[in-house]
Amino acid sequence: MVNICCIGAGYVGGPSCAVIAYQCHDIKVTIVDLNQARIDAWNSDELPIYEPGLDEIVFARRGKNLFFSTDVDQAIIDADLIFVSVNTPTKKSGMGAGMAADLAYIETATRRIAQVATSSKVVIEKSTVPCRTAQSMRTILEANSSKDIRFDILSNPEFLAEGTAISDLTKPDRVLIGCLQTPEGFAAQQKLVDVYTRWIPKEKVITMNLWSSELSKLAANALLAQRISSINALSAICEATGADVDEVAYACGTDSRIGPKFLKASVGFGGSCFQKDILNLVYLSEQLYLPEVAAYWKSVVTMNEYQKMRFTHRIVRTLFNTVTHKRIALLGFAFKKDTGDTRESAAITLCSYLIQERANVAIYDPKVSAKQMKMDLTEPGVGTNEAEVEKHVQVCSSAYEACAGADALVIVTEWDEFKMHHLDYQKIYDSMQKPAFIFDGRLILDGPKLKEIGFKVETIGKSI
Ligand code: NAI
Repeated sequence: MVNICCIGAGYVGGPSCAVIAYQCHDIKVTIVDLNQARIDAWNSDELPIYEPGLDEIVFARRGKNLFFSTDVDQAIIDADLIFVSVNTPTKKSGMGAGMAADLAYIETATRRIAQVATSSKVVIEKSTVPCRTAQSMRTILEANSSKDIRFDILSNPEFLAEGTAISDLTKPDRVLIGCLQTPEGFAAQQKLVDVYTRWIPKEKVITMNLWSSELSKLAANALLAQRISSINALSAICEATGADVDEVAYACGTDSRIGPKFLKASVGFGGSCFQKDILNLVYLSEQLYLPEVAAYWKSVVTMNEYQKMRFTHRIVRTLFNTVTHKRIALLGFAFKKDTGDTRESAAITLCSYLIQERANVAIYDPKVSAKQMKMDLTEPGVGTNEAEVEKHVQVCSSAYEACAGADALVIVTEWDEFKMHHLDYQKIYDSMQKPAFIFDGRLILDGPKLKEIGFKVETIGKSI
């Protein structure tokens, strides 16, 4: 039996290794984490992350060939292949603060492997890391190898998107595996290719050198985010000219060279990856003395910040330049639909801005807990403190509850349950203050129909 260990039971480690266990019943997969509460949740009926289809996969294999544990050392000792899937957040202090990736978790995990391993291992970098991180991992591991133990490093970045993780993992566009271009490197690479090709067609498993693989992950996220910032920049022009951003996106997206995906204007992108990975690329470019390249990618993040501010200013302006004491219903808090993840969600910026303007914010999200929302809003740097949040934020258990008595309703996350055929917008209108405003930050509503009901409608990328 092949033994796989995954260090880090988060949004990536959990689903990606659960899918390996699901697809390969003869492989023993142990997912470990230092966080006891997270592991307890993985071992319970209520998994720590919400992801469509994840429960079925975990419940089908848990206790058979899929295990969750805090015994990191034992899992390392037993494993042939070790995925390192720990968090790599943006550094908060010191050199490269606000830009560079914090590699402390990667280093701790790597040192642990070096310290406790009693046999040779293939160590797989799954976390998103700056180019040449594998080199540092190799140095640490090699300093601890002996003639009986060798460590081979692979880069296998993860391309899953939260909300569609299980289908992305089951039928990926591609799997990338980078290795050192040596006979030992190729042999290690083959071991991982053999795992993935159990359920993924061979031609979709792409092999390359370590550094190309590391950079490809940053590049892919930068290119995706760049498309969003591009369409968001165009949405500002649409609002000023009377063009309709949906029509512009459609006209451009039907060009086969451009394609339709990631051309949806919105209140701004969020999530733990886009901003962090682009800043990482910016930092890398600066370190390589490529200031023009750094400035180019930085503008993608700048545009995203601008879009969030632009949308909040539009809310305040439309509500007669003041939201003080007005009730604003925010529908959605997660950074996108079908996930409970709120990291870097545009909702946080929006909410804190409205609180600073002394609005009363009523939030409803189907998957985000009140505790999480309050934690996000009181994080250092967000701009709102606990007392303000207590005073100005009400977390509601339905969209109807949030909207009752509100002056405005804002669509922040594109959850399906907020769409026209799921919510009774007439009922919502009847329960709101008049004039009743709707701000559609996700282009999911039917503006003309809402106007017929009586709403004043403001949509991103549309002037009417
Ligand atoms: P996460 O924060 O959800 O999970 C990371 C886990 O690693 C945490 O539970 C933490 O306790 C654990 N951990 C940290 N150091 C550890 C150690 N030394 N030993 C054991 N456990 C340790 O992070 P997430 O979202 O899973 O991301 C992981 C990596 O994957 C990041 O580099 C991220 O950029 C990348 N990624 C994330 C995607 C996403 O959609 N969230 C998609 C693709 C890549």
